[in-house]
Amino acid sequence: MEHNERGFTLWFTGLSGSGKTTVSEIVERELRERGRRVEVLDGDIVRTNLSKGLGFSKEDRDTNILRIGFVAELLTRNGVSVIVSAISPYKEARDQVRRRIIDFVEVHVHCPLEVCAERDVKGLYKKAFDGEIERFTGVSDPYEPPEAPDVVLDTDQEEPEESARKVVEKLEFFGYLQPTVSEVRERHRATSNLSQ
Ligand SMILES: Nc1ncnc2c1ncn2[C@@H]1O[C@H](COP(=O)(O)OP(=O)(O)O)[C@@H](O)[C@H]1O
Ligand SMILES: [Mg+2]
Repeated sequence: MEHNERGFTLWFTGLSGSGKTTVSEIVERELRERGRRVEVLDGDIVRTNLSKGLGFSKEDRDTNILRIGFVAELLTRNGVSVIVSAISPYKEARDQVRRRIIDFVEVHVHCPLEVCAERDVKGLYKKAFDGEIERFTGVSDPYEPPEAPDVVLDTDQEEPEESARKVVEKLEFFGYLQPTVSEVRERHRATSNLSQ
């Protein structure tokens, strides 16, 4: 493993059920295969420990994001590849974290609300529409989409592997990851006249 690897925080933001956890797991696997040290901070898990007891008011949601950002920064500056998947609905809190972490890559996991609700991975949308959950993002609480994300995934139109590939390619483009030999050869083949 290289010793001068630069850490980064890959931050997935999007509605519940948009695909943050699904894509982040694929990217995590890919990073580990490339020998990176990876830590994942998933909103659902963070809320059972680091942010235990916090609710879903704007203040608590912002506190949750700033705590995740604080830990992400500590890890990032120590060369770790950090993956955060958290709804992170408020732009200002995300931007605050982004300002603090130089090596920050923002991924908007975009999926129309209707599709997220149709997927209803955790059965929460039904409850939210039935009024059994207050302050549910996208239904009865705001989601402010990022204005200039580094990557946009359209998970209603892509397979999870395709979405993950877009993320990995962006990390390569920024120089955080080296393209693999097979990727370089693949690109060469695609652009080379020899292949025609
Ligand atoms: N391109 C895609 N990326 C991610 N998830 C997808 C995609 N296409 C379909 N899905 C499905 O959408 C659901 C997303 O759920 P999940 O990853 O738990 O969302 P979140 O973590 O954002 O709440 C999964 O059932 C997944 O299989
Ligand atoms: Mg999730």
